Amino acid sequence: MRKKIAAGNWKMNTTPEEGLKLASQVIHMAQDESLSDTTIIMSVPFTHIESIKKIIPPTKNILIAAQNCHKEVSGAYTGEISAPMLQYLGVDCVVLGHSERREYYKESYAELETKTRIVLKHQMTPIFCCGEKLAKRQENAHFDLVKEQLSSSLFELNVIEFAKLVIAYEPVWAIGTGVTASSEEAQEMHHFIRDIITKKYGDSIAKKIPILYGGSVKPENAQSLFSCPDVDGGLIGGASLDAEGFIDIAKSF
Ligand code: PGA
Repeated sequence: MRKKIAAGNWKMNTTPEEGLKLASQVIHMAQDESLSDTTIIMSVPFTHIESIKKIIPPTKNILIAAQNCHKEVSGAYTGEISAPMLQYLGVDCVVLGHSERREYYKESYAELETKTRIVLKHQMTPIFCCGEKLAKRQENAHFDLVKEQLSSSLFELNVIEFAKLVIAYEPVWAIGTGVTASSEEAQEMHHFIRDIITKKYGDSIAKKIPILYGGSVKPENAQSLFSCPDVDGGLIGGASLDAEGFIDIAKSF
């Protein structure tokens, strides 16, 4: 059985103080018995990692993620944060290739491959994002694009490396817009993704990889999305900034 995951992506929100308060509420509620087999991830700003990490109990189901990292381990890259720095702080996962980073920081397929490798090398789990803009879906080119995003950055990994990934499908037109993919649209793409993984890495790996859906996940729509056979959870932006709503989403499996 695959892991069920609710991952909150806080983006560039909250001060460290507000973030610590939000995290402590999430942690408190995440210890509910009904969530014992759900993995709760908080993807927080770099400045919040150290203080939040200190209040996470040593349970296995509450993890902390960073939202990016640099592709080199060190060097003259003013303003950047490296994988060893994150590993030192006890970060569990790193979100890579979010559409906002692809769009605003022009992250390329090659750069994302290097980042994926560096994150894996430092014993953290990449949460690798893919997803199409509305125009691609309207042209019916969304499957080809997602396949290209995954194959161009990930398909040179060996089986052992690939098996450690979490994939997040986030249609760009659904991010922060209030428009959610229907459960049929989500299932169709998740099934497609699992199918291309099967073809490349085999059935047993494909069956193990969690594929999250992201894009306006809310307490009201989480249940129908999470009940799709190939949707293993969510990457939740706006709704993760409210502890109660986020935990309601996590309880929707
Ligand atoms: P959203 O963001 O839930 O606010 O749409 C999702 C994401 O960008 O990961």
